Amino acid sequence: MRTVVITGGTDGLGKGLALHYLREGARVIAVGSTPAKGEAFLAEAADSNRATFLRADLTSVRAAMDLIATLEDICPTVDKLILCAQRYRLFGPRTTTHEGFEHSFALAYLSRHILSHGLRKLLEPAPWPVVMNVGTPGVPLGRIHWDDPQLARRYSGTKATLQSFRANDLLGVAFAALYPDTPIRYIGYNPGVVSTGMPAHLPRPIRPVAKASFAVFATSVTKAVVPMTDLLDDPPGDPFTAYRAKRRLALSGPAFDQDAALRLHHLTRDLLDAAAPGPS
Ligand SMILES: NC(=O)c1ccc[n+]([C@@H]2O[C@H](COP(=O)([O-])OP(=O)(O)OC[C@H]3O[C@@H](n4cnc5c(N)ncnc54)[C@H](OP(=O)(O)O)[C@@H]3O)[C@@H](O)[C@H]2O)c1
Repeated sequence: MRTVVITGGTDGLGKGLALHYLREGARVIAVGSTPAKGEAFLAEAADSNRATFLRADLTSVRAAMDLIATLEDICPTVDKLILCAQRYRLFGPRTTTHEGFEHSFALAYLSRHILSHGLRKLLEPAPWPVVMNVGTPGVPLGRIHWDDPQLARRYSGTKATLQSFRANDLLGVAFAALYPDTPIRYIGYNPGVVSTGMPAHLPRPIRPVAKASFAVFATSVTKAVVPMTDLLDDPPGDPFTAYRAKRRLALSGPAFDQDAALRLHHLTRDLLDAAAPGPS
């Protein structure tokens, strides 16, 4: 039986994928931070004993590492790792996690870095292992702030969010460069605009506008997951690829620069070593 692990698997695209893979007969482990959403997911999964909810607040490095340890205990292998956990903070003051990381950096990028690398050993024995990092490849906005990645000096929520998007593009490039012999296919995936609960978490002033434009322009989750599952089930041969919906993106330009990708990888390792969270 295939095992599919989905962060953000209790809502939006992640939940759409989770319910799809349950219908397909897979074992599905959905990760989220809100127990009520986990219970709602399990209720929607009807009486499937193949559905599991694991609570983890992925803003925390310690929680991401504990999640890896739990998955090692309960899964011999993982076939698909799908990274969807996200909470946009486009406005408002800079906040840091209890481990000292800027919020968007921690949740949207660092947790994905830790889980991608940390679950490699569980993924590699699977027949067609795939990591799908769901974000915004192909959007030409944002950059890595090399001299201040935590944006301690000139913070804006938009800057931090866009930086996390670009960091995830580079994460996939670095992953393929670091493990040239891995069977894992790493896919950076941009679903386009999809009608999820995401606008409900935006700040009040722009929430109605976002909701209204989502109502007009957004694809439904049911439709949006189709090209995603096509790629997950029949991954491309190349170690790293990037897609916007069905369209494969050229891996050119600074978003996919290998030197920058490796530089970010080493910078991230240094930050993690410096934070060195102790035992839970
Ligand atoms: N929807 C779009 O139009 C769109 C467009 C481009 C890219 N994307 C990308 O697609 C992915 C999924 O987006 P979505 O629209 O489906 O989002 P969503 O409906 O808002 O769902 C987000 C998921 O992330 C989980 N999450 C949030 N904070 C968390 C935390 N601290 N720890 C663990 N889990 C956490 C949420 O569960 P809890 O609330 O319980 O924590 C929820 O399951 C994201 O990476 C997003 O950037 C979406």
